[in-house]
Amino acid sequence: MKVPKGYFITLEGGEGSGKSTLVKQLAEELTKKGYDVVTTREPGGTKLGEEIRQWLLTNHNTFKIGTKAELLLFLAARAQHIEEVIRPALKTGKIVICDRFNDSTLAYQGAARGLKMNETRKLCDIVCGEIQPQLTLFLDVDPNEGLRRAKKTIKKESLEGELDRIEDEKIEFHQMVREGFLALAKREPLRISRINANLPQIQVFKEALLTIDELLLLPAKQTK
Ligand SMILES: Nc1ncnc2c1ncn2[C@@H]1O[C@H](COP(=O)(O)OP(=O)(O)OP(=O)(O)O)[C@@H](O)[C@H]1O
Ligand SMILES: [Mg+2]
Repeated sequence: MKVPKGYFITLEGGEGSGKSTLVKQLAEELTKKGYDVVTTREPGGTKLGEEIRQWLLTNHNTFKIGTKAELLLFLAARAQHIEEVIRPALKTGKIVICDRFNDSTLAYQGAARGLKMNETRKLCDIVCGEIQPQLTLFLDVDPNEGLRRAKKTIKKESLEGELDRIEDEKIEFHQMVREGFLALAKREPLRISRINANLPQIQVFKEALLTIDELLLLPAKQTK
Protein backbone atom coordinates (compact mmCIF):
# COMPACT_ATOMS: atom_id res chain seq x y z
CA MET A 1 0.00 0.00 0.00
CA LYS A 2 1.18 3.51 -0.74
CA VAL A 3 1.50 5.86 2.19
CA PRO A 4 1.78 9.67 2.05
CA LYS A 5 5.30 10.83 1.52
CA GLY A 6 6.91 13.88 3.04
CA TYR A 7 9.38 16.19 1.44
CA PHE A 8 13.07 15.50 1.17
CA ILE A 9 15.25 18.63 0.97
CA THR A 10 19.04 18.61 0.87
CA LEU A 11 21.50 21.45 1.42
CA GLU A 12 24.73 21.33 -0.50
CA GLY A 13 27.81 23.49 -1.00
CA GLY A 14 31.47 23.79 -0.07
CA GLU A 15 33.02 24.28 3.35
CA GLY A 16 31.69 27.33 5.17
CA SER A 17 28.93 27.99 2.65
CA GLY A 18 26.39 28.22 5.48
CA LYS A 19 24.63 24.84 5.29
CA SER A 20 24.52 24.05 9.02
CA THR A 21 23.40 27.59 9.87
CA LEU A 22 20.62 27.43 7.29
CA VAL A 23 19.42 23.95 8.32
CA LYS A 24 18.74 25.24 11.83
CA GLN A 25 16.99 28.40 10.67
CA LEU A 26 14.80 26.58 8.15
CA ALA A 27 13.81 23.95 10.69
CA GLU A 28 12.80 26.64 13.19
CA GLU A 29 10.81 28.56 10.61
CA LEU A 30 9.01 25.54 9.14
CA THR A 31 8.23 24.18 12.61
CA LYS A 32 6.70 27.57 13.50
CA LYS A 33 4.54 27.24 10.38
CA GLY A 34 3.27 23.91 11.70
CA TYR A 35 5.31 21.43 9.66
CA ASP A 36 6.82 18.34 11.18
CA VAL A 37 10.55 18.70 10.46
CA VAL A 38 13.48 16.32 10.86
CA THR A 39 17.00 17.69 10.46
CA THR A 40 19.99 15.49 9.89
CA ARG A 41 23.47 15.48 8.32
CA GLU A 42 25.90 13.41 6.29
CA PRO A 43 28.07 11.68 7.04
CA GLY A 44 26.24 11.07 10.28
CA GLY A 45 22.62 10.97 11.34
CA THR A 46 22.95 7.48 12.89
CA LYS A 47 25.33 5.85 15.35
CA LEU A 48 27.17 4.11 12.51
CA GLY A 49 27.23 7.31 10.44
CA GLU A 50 28.61 9.39 13.29
CA GLU A 51 31.30 6.75 13.92
CA ILE A 52 32.26 6.88 10.24
CA ARG A 53 32.30 10.70 10.35
CA GLN A 54 34.52 10.64 13.41
CA TRP A 55 36.79 8.05 11.85
CA LEU A 56 37.20 10.10 8.66
CA LEU A 57 37.95 13.27 10.66
CA THR A 58 40.43 11.73 13.07
CA ASN A 59 42.29 9.38 10.75
CA HIS A 60 42.77 11.56 7.68
CA ASN A 61 46.39 12.38 8.59
CA THR A 62 47.26 9.09 10.32
CA PHE A 63 47.24 7.17 7.05
CA LYS A 64 46.07 7.76 3.55
CA ILE A 65 42.68 6.34 2.68
CA GLY A 66 42.07 5.58 -1.01
CA THR A 67 39.41 7.54 -2.82
CA LYS A 68 37.28 4.46 -3.50
CA ALA A 69 37.48 3.29 0.10
CA GLU A 70 36.51 6.79 1.21
CA LEU A 71 33.56 6.79 -1.21
CA LEU A 72 32.33 3.46 0.13
CA LEU A 73 32.54 4.66 3.74
CA PHE A 74 30.40 7.68 2.87
CA LEU A 75 27.94 5.40 1.09
CA ALA A 76 27.83 2.93 3.99
CA ALA A 77 26.90 5.83 6.26
CA ARG A 78 24.25 6.91 3.73
CA ALA A 79 22.70 3.44 3.40
CA GLN A 80 22.24 3.26 7.16
CA HIS A 81 20.98 6.82 7.33
CA ILE A 82 18.28 6.15 4.72
CA GLU A 83 17.06 2.98 6.42
CA GLU A 84 17.10 4.31 9.98
CA VAL A 85 16.15 7.95 9.57
CA ILE A 86 15.20 9.29 6.15
CA ARG A 87 12.82 6.65 4.77
CA PRO A 88 10.81 6.28 8.02
CA ALA A 89 10.49 10.07 8.37
CA LEU A 90 9.32 10.53 4.78
CA LYS A 91 6.85 7.66 5.15
CA THR A 92 5.21 9.46 8.04
CA GLY A 93 4.92 12.67 6.03
CA LYS A 94 7.73 14.68 7.59
CA ILE A 95 9.93 17.28 5.96
CA VAL A 96 13.49 15.96 6.08
CA ILE A 97 16.25 18.56 5.76
CA CYS A 98 19.63 16.95 5.27
CA ASP A 99 23.00 18.74 5.45
CA ARG A 100 24.87 17.19 2.45
CA PHE A 101 23.81 14.13 0.41
CA ASN A 102 24.57 12.61 -3.02
CA ASP A 103 25.65 15.87 -4.65
CA SER A 104 28.49 16.24 -2.15
CA THR A 105 29.65 12.73 -3.06
CA LEU A 106 29.59 13.62 -6.76
CA ALA A 107 31.33 16.97 -6.25
CA TYR A 108 34.03 15.78 -3.80
CA GLN A 109 34.73 12.16 -4.79
CA GLY A 110 33.78 12.64 -8.46
CA ALA A 111 34.66 16.15 -9.66
CA ALA A 112 37.44 16.94 -7.16
CA ARG A 113 39.07 13.57 -6.43
CA GLY A 114 38.56 12.29 -9.95
CA LEU A 115 36.41 9.18 -9.60
CA LYS A 116 34.34 8.49 -12.72
CA MET A 117 31.10 10.46 -12.50
CA ASN A 118 28.86 7.82 -14.08
CA GLU A 119 30.19 5.06 -11.81
CA THR A 120 29.90 7.23 -8.70
CA ARG A 121 26.36 8.19 -9.68
CA LYS A 122 25.44 4.51 -10.22
CA LEU A 123 26.67 3.62 -6.73
CA CYS A 124 24.72 6.51 -5.22
CA ASP A 125 21.61 5.30 -7.05
CA ILE A 126 22.08 1.74 -5.76
CA VAL A 127 22.27 3.05 -2.20
CA CYS A 128 19.40 5.54 -2.47
CA GLY A 129 16.90 3.86 -4.79
CA GLU A 130 13.73 5.94 -4.79
CA ILE A 131 14.91 8.10 -1.87
CA GLN A 132 16.02 11.14 -3.84
CA PRO A 133 15.68 14.78 -2.78
CA GLN A 134 12.82 16.71 -4.39
CA LEU A 135 14.71 19.93 -3.76
CA THR A 136 18.38 20.73 -3.28
CA LEU A 137 19.59 24.14 -2.21
CA PHE A 138 23.12 24.65 -3.48
CA LEU A 139 24.80 27.34 -1.39
CA ASP A 140 27.34 28.73 -3.80
CA VAL A 141 30.10 30.60 -1.99
CA ASP A 142 33.49 31.75 -3.23
CA PRO A 143 35.80 29.04 -1.82
CA ASN A 144 38.20 31.61 -0.30
CA GLU A 145 35.35 33.20 1.61
CA GLY A 146 33.93 29.80 2.59
CA LEU A 147 37.27 28.63 3.97
CA ARG A 148 37.73 31.88 5.87
CA ARG A 149 34.34 31.39 7.54
CA ALA A 150 34.89 27.69 8.22
CA LYS A 151 38.32 28.25 9.79
CA LYS A 152 36.93 30.97 12.04
CA THR A 153 34.20 28.64 13.30
CA ILE A 154 36.59 25.73 13.79
CA LYS A 155 39.09 27.85 15.71
CA LYS A 156 36.30 29.16 17.93
CA GLU A 157 35.19 25.61 18.66
CA SER A 158 38.82 24.37 19.02
CA LEU A 159 38.36 21.46 16.60
CA GLU A 160 42.05 21.00 15.80
CA GLY A 161 41.68 17.85 13.66
CA GLU A 162 38.98 19.49 11.59
CA LEU A 163 41.23 22.50 10.93
CA ASP A 164 44.06 20.24 9.72
CA ARG A 165 41.68 18.41 7.41
CA ILE A 166 40.54 21.61 5.69
CA GLU A 167 44.02 23.08 5.48
CA ASP A 168 45.34 19.83 3.97
CA GLU A 169 43.44 20.57 0.77
CA LYS A 170 44.66 23.31 -1.54
CA ILE A 171 42.33 26.07 -2.74
CA GLU A 172 42.32 24.38 -6.18
CA PHE A 173 40.60 21.38 -4.60
CA HIS A 174 37.81 23.57 -3.26
CA GLN A 175 37.52 25.30 -6.65
CA MET A 176 37.03 21.87 -8.25
CA VAL A 177 34.35 21.03 -5.70
CA ARG A 178 32.55 24.27 -6.62
CA GLU A 179 32.85 23.51 -10.34
CA GLY A 180 31.41 20.07 -9.60
CA PHE A 181 28.37 21.54 -7.84
CA LEU A 182 27.87 24.08 -10.64
CA ALA A 183 27.88 21.29 -13.25
CA LEU A 184 25.34 19.30 -11.22
CA ALA A 185 23.09 22.36 -10.93
CA LYS A 186 23.28 22.87 -14.69
CA ARG A 187 22.42 19.23 -15.32
CA GLU A 188 19.37 19.23 -12.98
CA PRO A 189 18.02 22.77 -12.88
CA LEU A 190 14.56 21.71 -11.70
CA ARG A 191 15.84 19.96 -8.58
CA ILE A 192 18.90 22.03 -7.74
CA SER A 193 18.40 25.65 -6.88
CA ARG A 194 21.58 27.75 -6.69
CA ILE A 195 21.69 30.43 -4.03
CA ASN A 196 24.38 33.09 -3.93
CA ALA A 197 25.85 32.30 -0.50
CA ASN A 198 28.31 35.22 -0.63
CA LEU A 199 25.33 37.41 0.30
CA PRO A 200 24.47 38.21 3.91
CA GLN A 201 22.96 35.27 5.75
CA ILE A 202 19.52 36.90 6.10
CA GLN A 203 19.24 37.13 2.31
CA VAL A 204 20.33 33.52 1.87
CA PHE A 205 17.67 32.47 4.39
CA LYS A 206 14.93 34.49 2.65
CA GLU A 207 15.76 33.04 -0.76
CA ALA A 208 15.88 29.50 0.64
CA LEU A 209 12.50 29.96 2.28
CA LEU A 210 10.90 31.26 -0.92
CA THR A 211 12.18 28.24 -2.85
CA ILE A 212 10.91 25.84 -0.19
CA ASP A 213 7.51 27.56 -0.07
CA GLU A 214 7.14 26.86 -3.80
CA LEU A 215 7.91 23.18 -3.21
CA LEU A 216 5.43 22.92 -0.35
CA LEU A 217 2.63 24.18 -2.61
CA LEU A 218 3.02 20.95 -4.60
CA PRO A 219 1.22 17.89 -3.25
CA ALA A 220 3.50 15.46 -1.41
CA LYS A 221 4.39 12.51 -3.62
CA GLN A 222 3.35 8.96 -2.84
CA THR A 223 5.78 6.20 -2.06
CA LYS A 224 5.73 2.47 -1.40
N1 LIG B 1 25.89 34.25 4.36
C1 LIG B 1 26.80 34.32 5.35
N2 LIG B 1 27.58 35.39 5.48
C2 LIG B 1 28.54 35.47 6.44
N3 LIG B 1 28.79 34.48 7.33
C3 LIG B 1 28.04 33.37 7.25
C4 LIG B 1 27.01 33.21 6.25
N4 LIG B 1 26.45 31.98 6.41
C5 LIG B 1 27.09 31.40 7.44
N5 LIG B 1 28.02 32.23 7.95
C6 LIG B 1 28.95 31.95 9.07
O1 LIG B 1 30.01 31.17 8.51
C7 LIG B 1 30.40 30.13 9.40
C8 LIG B 1 30.24 28.78 8.69
O2 LIG B 1 28.86 28.53 8.48
P1 LIG B 1 28.28 27.03 8.56
O3 LIG B 1 28.92 26.27 9.66
O4 LIG B 1 26.80 27.15 8.55
O5 LIG B 1 28.78 26.47 7.14
P2 LIG B 1 28.77 24.96 6.60
O6 LIG B 1 28.41 25.08 5.17
O7 LIG B 1 27.92 24.14 7.47
O8 LIG B 1 30.30 24.57 6.76
P3 LIG B 1 30.96 23.07 6.76
O9 LIG B 1 30.92 22.57 5.36
O10 LIG B 1 32.35 23.36 7.23
O11 LIG B 1 30.15 22.25 7.73
C9 LIG B 1 29.54 30.28 10.64
O12 LIG B 1 30.28 31.00 11.60
C10 LIG B 1 28.34 31.09 10.17
O13 LIG B 1 27.80 31.88 11.20
MG1 LIG C 1 28.34 22.34 8.57
